[in-house]
Amino acid sequence: MPTEPLLSVEDVVVQFGGVTAVDHASFVAEAGRVTGLIGPNGAGKTTCFNVISGLQKPTRGRVRFRGRTVSHTPVHRRAKRGMGRTFQRLEAFGSLTVRDNVRVAHDIHRGLLGLVRPSRADVDGLLERVGIAAYADERADSVPTGTARLLELARCLAGDPRLLLLDEPSSGQDETETDAFGQLLRDLAAEGRGILMVEHDMDLVMSVCDEIHVLDFGRVIASGSPAQIRRDPVVQQAYLGAVDEPDGPDQTLVLPAVQEVAG
Ligand SMILES: Nc1ncnc2c1ncn2[C@@H]1O[C@H](COP(=O)(O)OP(=O)(O)OP(=O)(O)O)[C@@H](O)[C@H]1O
Ligand SMILES: [Mg+2]
Repeated sequence: MPTEPLLSVEDVVVQFGGVTAVDHASFVAEAGRVTGLIGPNGAGKTTCFNVISGLQKPTRGRVRFRGRTVSHTPVHRRAKRGMGRTFQRLEAFGSLTVRDNVRVAHDIHRGLLGLVRPSRADVDGLLERVGIAAYADERADSVPTGTARLLELARCLAGDPRLLLLDEPSSGQDETETDAFGQLLRDLAAEGRGILMVEHDMDLVMSVCDEIHVLDFGRVIASGSPAQIRRDPVVQQAYLGAVDEPDGPDQTLVLPAVQEVAG
Protein backbone atom coordinates (compact mmCIF):
# COMPACT_ATOMS: atom_id res chain seq x y z
CA MET A 1 0.00 0.00 0.00
CA PRO A 2 1.49 3.40 -0.90
CA THR A 3 2.34 5.53 2.13
CA GLU A 4 0.57 8.84 2.61
CA PRO A 5 2.57 12.01 1.83
CA LEU A 6 3.95 13.94 4.81
CA LEU A 7 1.57 16.82 4.02
CA SER A 8 -1.55 16.89 1.85
CA VAL A 9 -3.59 19.97 1.11
CA GLU A 10 -6.92 18.70 -0.15
CA ASP A 11 -9.40 20.84 -2.07
CA VAL A 12 -8.77 23.88 0.12
CA VAL A 13 -10.81 27.03 -0.43
CA VAL A 14 -10.23 30.32 1.43
CA GLN A 15 -12.58 33.23 0.93
CA PHE A 16 -12.07 36.70 2.37
CA GLY A 17 -15.46 38.35 1.80
CA GLY A 18 -15.82 38.36 -1.97
CA VAL A 19 -12.14 37.50 -2.61
CA THR A 20 -11.30 33.86 -3.25
CA ALA A 21 -7.66 33.72 -2.13
CA VAL A 22 -7.35 29.93 -2.45
CA ASP A 23 -9.60 28.15 -4.92
CA HIS A 24 -9.91 24.35 -4.54
CA ALA A 25 -6.15 23.89 -4.18
CA SER A 26 -4.76 20.38 -3.74
CA PHE A 27 -1.07 19.55 -3.50
CA VAL A 28 1.34 17.47 -1.44
CA ALA A 29 4.81 17.78 0.10
CA GLU A 30 6.79 14.60 0.69
CA ALA A 31 9.33 13.76 3.37
CA GLY A 32 12.91 13.90 2.11
CA ARG A 33 12.06 16.31 -0.69
CA VAL A 34 12.13 20.02 -1.35
CA THR A 35 8.78 21.15 -2.76
CA GLY A 36 8.32 24.60 -4.23
CA LEU A 37 5.08 26.59 -4.08
CA ILE A 38 5.38 29.41 -6.59
CA GLY A 39 3.13 31.88 -8.34
CA PRO A 40 2.69 35.58 -9.04
CA ASN A 41 2.10 38.09 -6.22
CA GLY A 42 -1.30 37.61 -4.63
CA ALA A 43 -1.63 34.04 -5.96
CA GLY A 44 -2.50 32.70 -2.49
CA LYS A 45 0.84 31.19 -1.41
CA THR A 46 1.05 32.74 2.06
CA THR A 47 -2.66 32.06 2.61
CA CYS A 48 -1.96 28.37 1.86
CA PHE A 49 0.85 28.46 4.45
CA ASN A 50 -1.53 30.01 6.97
CA VAL A 51 -4.05 27.22 6.36
CA ILE A 52 -1.35 24.54 6.64
CA SER A 53 0.12 25.96 9.86
CA GLY A 54 -3.28 26.74 11.43
CA LEU A 55 -3.34 30.54 11.36
CA GLN A 56 -6.19 30.58 8.84
CA LYS A 57 -9.28 28.35 8.85
CA PRO A 58 -10.12 27.10 5.38
CA THR A 59 -13.60 27.89 4.07
CA ARG A 60 -13.61 24.29 2.88
CA GLY A 61 -11.20 21.42 2.29
CA ARG A 62 -8.72 19.82 4.68
CA VAL A 63 -5.06 19.49 5.57
CA ARG A 64 -3.49 16.16 6.47
CA PHE A 65 -0.11 15.98 8.21
CA ARG A 66 1.71 12.81 9.24
CA GLY A 67 -1.35 10.67 8.63
CA ARG A 68 -3.87 12.81 10.53
CA THR A 69 -6.35 15.49 9.54
CA VAL A 70 -5.16 18.68 11.26
CA SER A 71 -7.51 21.24 9.70
CA HIS A 72 -8.97 22.11 13.12
CA THR A 73 -5.83 21.48 15.21
CA PRO A 74 -4.46 24.63 16.93
CA VAL A 75 -1.18 26.14 15.71
CA HIS A 76 0.87 25.03 18.73
CA ARG A 77 -0.32 21.42 18.44
CA ARG A 78 0.65 21.33 14.77
CA ALA A 79 4.06 22.69 15.77
CA LYS A 80 4.38 19.96 18.40
CA ARG A 81 3.51 17.39 15.79
CA GLY A 82 6.50 18.57 13.77
CA MET A 83 5.54 21.57 11.68
CA GLY A 84 8.03 24.44 11.65
CA ARG A 85 7.53 27.73 9.88
CA THR A 86 9.39 30.87 8.94
CA PHE A 87 7.56 34.06 8.03
CA GLN A 88 7.75 36.43 5.08
CA ARG A 89 8.13 39.14 7.75
CA LEU A 90 11.09 38.60 10.10
CA GLU A 91 10.07 37.52 13.60
CA ALA A 92 13.29 37.43 15.68
CA PHE A 93 13.67 39.34 19.00
CA GLY A 94 15.71 42.37 17.92
CA SER A 95 17.24 43.23 21.28
CA LEU A 96 18.52 39.70 21.95
CA THR A 97 21.69 38.29 20.48
CA VAL A 98 21.54 35.85 17.61
CA ARG A 99 22.54 33.05 20.02
CA ASP A 100 19.86 33.97 22.57
CA ASN A 101 17.20 34.05 19.86
CA VAL A 102 17.96 30.43 19.05
CA ARG A 103 18.12 29.55 22.75
CA VAL A 104 14.66 31.04 23.33
CA ALA A 105 13.26 29.18 20.31
CA HIS A 106 14.77 25.97 21.68
CA ASP A 107 13.14 26.61 25.08
CA ILE A 108 9.76 27.30 23.49
CA HIS A 109 9.86 24.14 21.41
CA ARG A 110 11.45 21.66 23.75
CA GLY A 111 11.75 23.07 27.21
CA LEU A 112 9.54 21.54 29.90
CA LEU A 113 8.74 24.73 31.81
CA GLY A 114 12.34 25.74 31.29
CA LEU A 115 13.64 22.60 33.01
CA VAL A 116 15.33 21.20 29.92
CA ARG A 117 17.84 23.83 28.91
CA PRO A 118 19.68 23.54 25.63
CA SER A 119 23.44 23.35 25.98
CA ARG A 120 25.48 26.11 24.42
CA ALA A 121 26.88 23.44 22.08
CA ASP A 122 23.32 22.62 20.86
CA VAL A 123 22.61 26.25 20.13
CA ASP A 124 25.99 26.97 18.57
CA GLY A 125 25.64 23.78 16.52
CA LEU A 126 22.46 25.19 14.96
CA LEU A 127 24.14 28.54 14.24
CA GLU A 128 27.04 26.66 12.66
CA ARG A 129 24.67 24.56 10.63
CA VAL A 130 22.94 27.51 8.99
CA GLY A 131 26.24 29.35 8.57
CA ILE A 132 25.81 32.29 10.99
CA ALA A 133 28.07 31.28 13.90
CA ALA A 134 30.18 34.40 13.31
CA TYR A 135 27.15 36.53 14.31
CA ALA A 136 26.35 34.63 17.55
CA ASP A 137 27.04 37.59 19.87
CA GLU A 138 25.50 40.30 17.68
CA ARG A 139 22.08 41.76 18.40
CA ALA A 140 19.53 40.26 16.02
CA ASP A 141 18.40 43.72 14.86
CA SER A 142 21.95 44.62 13.79
CA VAL A 143 22.62 41.75 11.36
CA PRO A 144 22.06 41.92 7.59
CA THR A 145 18.67 40.73 6.28
CA GLY A 146 20.17 37.62 4.68
CA THR A 147 21.65 36.63 8.06
CA ALA A 148 18.35 37.38 9.82
CA ARG A 149 16.62 34.98 7.42
CA LEU A 150 19.12 32.27 8.35
CA LEU A 151 18.49 33.06 12.01
CA GLU A 152 14.77 32.43 11.35
CA LEU A 153 15.70 29.07 9.93
CA ALA A 154 17.91 28.22 12.92
CA ARG A 155 15.02 29.14 15.26
CA CYS A 156 12.73 26.91 13.25
CA LEU A 157 15.25 24.02 13.33
CA ALA A 158 15.48 24.35 17.12
CA GLY A 159 12.09 22.58 17.15
CA ASP A 160 13.50 19.69 15.07
CA PRO A 161 10.55 19.88 12.62
CA ARG A 162 9.57 17.05 10.25
CA LEU A 163 8.16 19.66 7.85
CA LEU A 164 9.59 23.12 7.26
CA LEU A 165 7.34 25.78 5.74
CA LEU A 166 9.62 28.52 4.44
CA ASP A 167 8.02 31.73 3.14
CA GLU A 168 10.48 33.58 0.88
CA PRO A 169 13.54 32.41 2.84
CA SER A 170 16.17 33.70 0.42
CA SER A 171 14.97 37.29 0.09
CA GLY A 172 17.75 39.62 1.24
CA GLN A 173 20.47 37.04 0.62
CA ASP A 174 23.27 37.67 -1.84
CA GLU A 175 24.23 35.13 -4.49
CA THR A 176 26.86 33.35 -2.37
CA GLU A 177 24.46 33.10 0.57
CA THR A 178 21.72 31.76 -1.70
CA ASP A 179 24.02 29.04 -3.09
CA ALA A 180 24.95 27.91 0.43
CA PHE A 181 21.29 28.11 1.43
CA GLY A 182 20.29 25.85 -1.48
CA GLN A 183 22.82 23.25 -0.35
CA LEU A 184 21.53 23.49 3.23
CA LEU A 185 17.97 22.83 2.02
CA ARG A 186 19.18 19.75 0.13
CA ASP A 187 20.99 18.52 3.26
CA LEU A 188 17.91 19.06 5.45
CA ALA A 189 15.78 17.11 2.97
CA ALA A 190 18.41 14.34 2.85
CA GLU A 191 17.85 13.90 6.61
CA GLY A 192 14.25 12.97 5.80
CA ARG A 193 12.61 16.33 6.52
CA GLY A 194 10.02 17.66 4.12
CA ILE A 195 10.48 21.22 2.94
CA LEU A 196 7.72 23.32 1.40
CA MET A 197 9.09 26.61 0.17
CA VAL A 198 7.46 29.74 -1.21
CA GLU A 199 10.14 31.56 -3.13
CA HIS A 200 10.42 34.18 -5.85
CA ASP A 201 14.08 33.45 -6.71
CA MET A 202 13.47 31.18 -9.67
CA ASP A 203 17.13 30.13 -10.01
CA LEU A 204 17.00 28.80 -6.44
CA VAL A 205 13.60 27.16 -6.95
CA MET A 206 14.64 25.50 -10.19
CA SER A 207 17.96 24.25 -8.83
CA VAL A 208 16.84 23.00 -5.43
CA CYS A 209 13.24 21.72 -5.72
CA ASP A 210 12.33 18.13 -6.48
CA GLU A 211 8.76 19.14 -7.26
CA ILE A 212 6.99 22.43 -7.84
CA HIS A 213 3.34 23.44 -7.56
CA VAL A 214 2.27 26.63 -9.30
CA LEU A 215 -0.57 28.73 -7.92
CA ASP A 216 -2.36 31.40 -9.91
CA PHE A 217 -5.45 33.20 -8.61
CA GLY A 218 -5.63 30.61 -5.83
CA ARG A 219 -5.72 27.62 -8.18
CA VAL A 220 -3.00 25.03 -8.73
CA ILE A 221 -2.34 25.43 -12.45
CA ALA A 222 0.62 23.04 -12.69
CA SER A 223 2.60 20.51 -10.66
CA GLY A 224 5.76 18.77 -11.76
CA SER A 225 9.53 18.67 -11.84
CA PRO A 226 11.47 21.89 -12.47
CA ALA A 227 12.02 20.85 -16.10
CA GLN A 228 8.28 20.21 -16.59
CA ILE A 229 7.32 23.50 -14.94
CA ARG A 230 9.80 25.50 -17.01
CA ARG A 231 8.33 24.41 -20.28
CA ASP A 232 4.65 24.41 -19.24
CA PRO A 233 2.83 26.91 -21.49
CA VAL A 234 0.14 27.59 -18.85
CA VAL A 235 2.84 28.55 -16.32
CA GLN A 236 4.62 30.76 -18.84
CA GLN A 237 1.32 32.50 -19.52
CA ALA A 238 0.63 33.08 -15.80
CA TYR A 239 4.05 34.67 -15.31
CA LEU A 240 3.95 36.71 -18.49
CA GLY A 241 0.47 37.87 -17.47
CA ALA A 242 1.89 39.01 -14.13
CA VAL A 243 4.59 41.04 -15.90
CA ASP A 244 1.89 42.87 -17.85
CA GLU A 245 0.15 44.05 -14.65
CA PRO A 246 -0.30 47.84 -14.37
CA ASP A 247 2.04 47.97 -11.35
CA GLY A 248 4.86 47.13 -13.71
CA PRO A 249 7.14 44.16 -14.08
CA ASP A 250 8.47 42.32 -11.10
CA GLN A 251 11.65 40.92 -12.56
CA THR A 252 12.03 38.31 -9.87
CA LEU A 253 8.91 36.63 -11.21
CA VAL A 254 10.27 36.08 -14.70
CA LEU A 255 11.13 32.46 -15.31
CA PRO A 256 14.78 32.01 -16.19
CA ALA A 257 15.70 31.06 -19.72
CA VAL A 258 14.84 27.46 -20.51
CA GLN A 259 17.85 25.26 -19.86
CA GLU A 260 17.45 21.59 -20.52
CA VAL A 261 18.60 19.69 -17.46
CA ALA A 262 20.40 16.48 -18.30
CA GLY A 263 18.70 13.31 -17.04
N1 LIG B 1 -6.54 38.73 5.69
C1 LIG B 1 -6.93 38.99 4.42
N2 LIG B 1 -8.07 39.67 4.16
C2 LIG B 1 -8.47 39.94 2.90
N3 LIG B 1 -7.79 39.54 1.79
C3 LIG B 1 -6.63 38.86 1.99
C4 LIG B 1 -6.13 38.56 3.30
N4 LIG B 1 -4.96 37.88 3.18
C5 LIG B 1 -4.74 37.78 1.86
N5 LIG B 1 -5.73 38.36 1.14
C6 LIG B 1 -5.85 38.40 -0.33
O1 LIG B 1 -5.74 37.05 -0.77
C7 LIG B 1 -4.98 36.98 -1.96
C8 LIG B 1 -3.80 36.05 -1.75
O2 LIG B 1 -2.85 36.67 -0.85
P1 LIG B 1 -1.52 35.96 -0.38
O3 LIG B 1 -0.87 36.86 0.60
O4 LIG B 1 -1.85 34.57 0.04
O5 LIG B 1 -0.69 35.90 -1.74
P2 LIG B 1 0.84 35.49 -2.00
O6 LIG B 1 0.81 34.51 -3.12
O7 LIG B 1 1.49 35.08 -0.74
O8 LIG B 1 1.46 36.86 -2.53
P3 LIG B 1 2.97 37.46 -2.40
O9 LIG B 1 3.80 36.74 -3.43
O10 LIG B 1 2.78 38.90 -2.74
O11 LIG B 1 3.44 37.25 -0.98
C9 LIG B 1 -4.60 38.40 -2.32
O12 LIG B 1 -5.59 38.89 -3.22
C10 LIG B 1 -4.68 39.12 -0.99
O13 LIG B 1 -4.96 40.49 -1.17
MG1 LIG C 1 3.11 35.82 0.37
